[in-house]
Amino acid sequence: MGIYILGIESSCDDTSAAVIHNRKILANFIANQSIHQDFGGVVPELASRAHQQNIIPVIDKALRTANINKNQLNAIAFTNGPGLMGSLLVGASFAKTFSLALGIPLIEVNHMQAHILSLFIEDESTTNHPDFPFLCLTVSGGHTQLMLVKDYFEMELLGQTIDDAAGEAFDKAAKIMGLPYPGGPLIDQFAAQGNAAAFSFPHPNVAGLDFSFSGLKTSILYFLRDELKRNPDFIEMNKFDLCASIQSMIVEILIRKLRKAVAETGIKTVAIAGGVSANSGLRKALTGMSKNEGCKVFFPKPEYCTDNAAMIAITGYFKYLNGNFSHHDIIPFTRFKAQ
Ligand code: KG4
Ligand code: ZN
Repeated sequence: MGIYILGIESSCDDTSAAVIHNRKILANFIANQSIHQDFGGVVPELASRAHQQNIIPVIDKALRTANINKNQLNAIAFTNGPGLMGSLLVGASFAKTFSLALGIPLIEVNHMQAHILSLFIEDESTTNHPDFPFLCLTVSGGHTQLMLVKDYFEMELLGQTIDDAAGEAFDKAAKIMGLPYPGGPLIDQFAAQGNAAAFSFPHPNVAGLDFSFSGLKTSILYFLRDELKRNPDFIEMNKFDLCASIQSMIVEILIRKLRKAVAETGIKTVAIAGGVSANSGLRKALTGMSKNEGCKVFFPKPEYCTDNAAMIAITGYFKYLNGNFSHHDIIPFTRFKAQ
């Protein structure tokens, strides 16, 4: 028996569907949209059109792989925000229609909360989950948040970016270097072969537990502009060292604030989540906090870091247990709101 939930994610440029049985993922499919690469970033109108094309095949594939019939589903969970309105509407409309057709509950999910709850997905290799309360650095293409997670649905925002998100910093730095979108994973890959001490950039001075990345972007821009005047091949010749130095700076900005939060709250259970939590430099830095500072550290499996529906399904599961269902007249929201 148990509970079967279909999770649907369509907040940005990935169309994803997952089926969860209690806390175990039976299927998790993601259709990426390569069309945005030509434009150096996500084009909202193209994203929503691609979601329209992808959503039925992705859901069909997830149900087939999970080897369950749609009539076995107990609820439909979907991302209701934050994200791009045109993209969200595709997932929301499908979820509402499917839940009405099947006569089962509809569950709205906050995308940022779902990134955090991806830490609670169970599988053979991940049986260890953070105990409450814990601190979570939620780092993605659109957000950078430091959350105090008191319970599954009780989270307090301690700090956030005052300008660019961490993922945006990776992507913009990559763009300045002429690398394709999204640049984060490429910087990570190239950084592995470079020297992180080769170049240094000024550290932002931001009060409290907030973050800032726009100064870093500007200093990379001006630094490269000047170097390219002297040597037009500067980027190509220093690609690996540049990536290693940029990555190390972004990781340093994030980890400094996480350490500050540990010191201020006394909470030594820390986690990362969201697309940038796939970054090997950040994962290594977190492991360092475990070795050097005795913190208990947690990160999602790589496939649950970047946008995926498995995280929507696990959040749906916990909401289902609480009987926290949504009305069919809810509308998606674009900007983050605490729930
Ligand atoms: O969570 P996510 O998939 O989408 C949003 O909710 O925004 O995060 C996407 C972001 C992009 O900025 C991407 O460049 C970044 O996560 N990212 C990475 C890595 N993998 C994805 N950044 C650095 N290193 C990575 N390995
Ligand atoms: Zn995300």
